[in-house]
Amino acid sequence: MSENKFYNIITYGCQMNEHDSERLAGMLEEMGYQQTEELGSADIILLNTCIIRENAELKVFGKLGELKRYKRENPDLIIGIGGCMMQQDEPVDEVYKKYRHVDLIFGTHNIHHLPNLIKKIEETRDRVVEVWDEEEGLIPDLPSQRESEHSAWISIIQGCDNFCTYCIVPYVRGRERSRSVKSIVEEAVRLAEDGVKEITLLGQNVNSYGNDLEKEITFPKLLEELNKVEELKRIRFMTSHPRDLSDDLLAKIKNLDKVANHIHLPVQSGSNKVLKEMNRGYTREYYIDRVKKIQQEIPGAAVSTDFIVGFPGESEEDFEKTIELVKELKFDMAYTFIYSPRSGTPAARRDDQIAEAVKKGRLNRLMELQNKISYDQNQKLIGSIQKILVTGPSNNDPEVFEGRTSTNKICFIDKREDLVGEVVKVKIEDAKSWTLEGTVIE
Ligand code: SAH
Ligand code: SF4
Ligand code: F3S
Repeated sequence: MSENKFYNIITYGCQMNEHDSERLAGMLEEMGYQQTEELGSADIILLNTCIIRENAELKVFGKLGELKRYKRENPDLIIGIGGCMMQQDEPVDEVYKKYRHVDLIFGTHNIHHLPNLIKKIEETRDRVVEVWDEEEGLIPDLPSQRESEHSAWISIIQGCDNFCTYCIVPYVRGRERSRSVKSIVEEAVRLAEDGVKEITLLGQNVNSYGNDLEKEITFPKLLEELNKVEELKRIRFMTSHPRDLSDDLLAKIKNLDKVANHIHLPVQSGSNKVLKEMNRGYTREYYIDRVKKIQQEIPGAAVSTDFIVGFPGESEEDFEKTIELVKELKFDMAYTFIYSPRSGTPAARRDDQIAEAVKKGRLNRLMELQNKISYDQNQKLIGSIQKILVTGPSNNDPEVFEGRTSTNKICFIDKREDLVGEVVKVKIEDAKSWTLEGTVIE
């Protein structure tokens, strides 16, 4: 192929998509393309999309509109769109019919076909649409162009079988498929040899890891294997479904030195009625018991969570239950979302949808409360010693460096090039709702 061809990938959505984008980038680099920040000089632009909430979709259509002028300026430009949104018929039809400047549509199950699809377009200049309902056999290990030198994602289980009634993920990411322990450990070793210090294990529900494998293996056992990988300093994982959070896993977090002291445990609601209608498979009492157990067994561990406000039929009383739960459990951090009806999911068909203004009011109340709690939780850390993995200059100020604590909190330190990639002890001097500040003591 001719020299100096450039690509740019625009990614929306969660870590799974970020990770897929790294693999799309890896394949393009193998084809001889180089990354560019400037869309105007790109030969290929890919959008990796998300469909979890309506605003995620709106952003993608907005961006597609914007890209039209680049195609006008450079008719050879290849514009491709993949990801979760393209696993649904409606958005695919809309993109195909209304956005004629899009050359390629692909899905989440065939990202490894990207090189072939691009070659086909280069040869024929035809528009190509290839979306699969599920993977065909084993997906090969793919090259990855990582964003970060010291941290890497490892996908351990794909898809989701839970079918929470509000959620589109099981429809766009398919059924649960666990990777073999062997291939996960091999990848971890390869990454460690490449200088990676921290891995984050990814899955919609990491706690179901192994359920679909013939060989008997569980998520806690996988952690034990990965903890043996020399050179790795930290192992993170997300997301844990509360229903499947075992005592065995808590013991591993406590006893395995590399496993981070942080659990992301989305609760969604504090009302038993709403939890049941969401098909979450646990009660408020069970959830509270699990979090209290974490707080008792693993002192200093951080728990973060997700909430949805304004699920259909959520009464003021239901919402109050969520507020009470937040006050009782004092999460370190929470992501709060307004319920967004997703076409094809059971909750979207309900006729008791909550008015937008009510949803926004609830969101604001919940966010205000959680901000205060996060601030208080962080203030308690002032004077304590935390270990942080230094990642480099902060986004806002290159003179300030940053890293994360084992509990996943961002901590700023003075500029220290020599510490990048190292785990160092820091004394916490100041704290805000979302960040800490400290001085390196070792
Ligand atoms: N697998 C993870 C999270 C997947 S999506 C889990 O089970 O927790 C991330 C978060 O998006 C969810 O935790 C939920 O809070 C939110 N979310 C999912 N569907 C949504 C919808 N239709 N409207 C609003 N928020 C939603
Ligand atoms: Fe969606 Fe529920 Fe699966 Fe999470 S567990 S991805 S919220 S269906
Ligand atoms: Fe993630 Fe969005 Fe897909 S949250 S799994 S990118 S729908």
